[in-house]
Amino acid sequence: MLYLIAMEYKNPEIIKAAKQLKEKFEKLDEKRAILRAPELLALYERIKTLPQDKRANFGKEVNALKTELESLVAESHAPTKKIRPIDVTAPFDVNVMPEHPPGLLSSENGSQHPLTTELKNILDIFGRMGFTAIESREIDDDYHMFSSLNFPEGHPARDEYDTFVTEEGLIAPAHTSIMQNRVLKANKPPIRYVIPGRVFRNEDLDARHEHTFYQLEGIYVDKGIHAGHLIATLKAFLEEYYGQKLDVKTQPFYFPFTEPSFEFALSCPFCQKKGCHVCSYVGWIELLGCGMIHPNVLKEGGVNPNEYTGFAWGMGIDRLVMMKYGIEDVRHFESGNLAFLRQF
Ligand code: DAH
Repeated sequence: MLYLIAMEYKNPEIIKAAKQLKEKFEKLDEKRAILRAPELLALYERIKTLPQDKRANFGKEVNALKTELESLVAESHAPTKKIRPIDVTAPFDVNVMPEHPPGLLSSENGSQHPLTTELKNILDIFGRMGFTAIESREIDDDYHMFSSLNFPEGHPARDEYDTFVTEEGLIAPAHTSIMQNRVLKANKPPIRYVIPGRVFRNEDLDARHEHTFYQLEGIYVDKGIHAGHLIATLKAFLEEYYGQKLDVKTQPFYFPFTEPSFEFALSCPFCQKKGCHVCSYVGWIELLGCGMIHPNVLKEGGVNPNEYTGFAWGMGIDRLVMMKYGIEDVRHFESGNLAFLRQF
């Protein structure tokens, strides 16, 4: 830092003005404004009022002061350091000076997304029931999305899973069932897995439909497994998750990868079947699809269907969490709306 008083001035008026100007200069945001400062202009005006013999010396010192101010201004504009090249992959602007690190949010300003918190609870419950958790994936191929799940080429059931496809033919998975074949091939029975994942659908969006949402796939294969195990497992999970006794019921459905296939409904945890706005006044909530794994799916996964049977299910995590907190619109989850997120 340079100081104006470093310059030797003789005239007391100029010494005083130089001191004031220096203090002012340090506070200015726009340093160039110092050259128009009234203290400096007053010195020029002062020259005219001085007797002839004093004018030359005084004028010289005023000019020297101005020159000094000009060099200070020039110096303040010169870059002090060479600017580093921009790293466009950095999570913040790397051109900030090390003495002014970027203002990252402190941990108190953020919170876990409600779906993350709830998924942990869900996996914890299934963990205690003996299931191992593995993650699903967010890009896949036709084989895992359809063929390995007993959807023949051109089968109309494929239309139920209308999703996004890259120009290379890769698929943004429409369900976590894409993992069934992988899990069957990689393990020997007993096989007990839960598989959370983000899934995608080409949907008309409304309060109940999102293009991106989360599912939890479950799969259980062993000797002698039947639909009773399926119902008991899901009922036990739901009662633990909602912390209350629930009634459950199944109704027949169709999935190519299960036989028989069911839609699984539970009694509304908000009204205990009396009817309320959460269950659309029917007392029951259809929560998930499930069934006994089709022999073709087991065979394709390298498991002998004459020796082993199994059940599987796929449930919407968003739906489960909406039900727990009475959230009325699924679109809140992906909205990034802080007013919504801060409630959790
Ligand atoms: N994948 C189905 C869907 O997203 C849900 C499902 C149904 C998964 C039955 C399963 C199952 O594992 O057995 O609509």
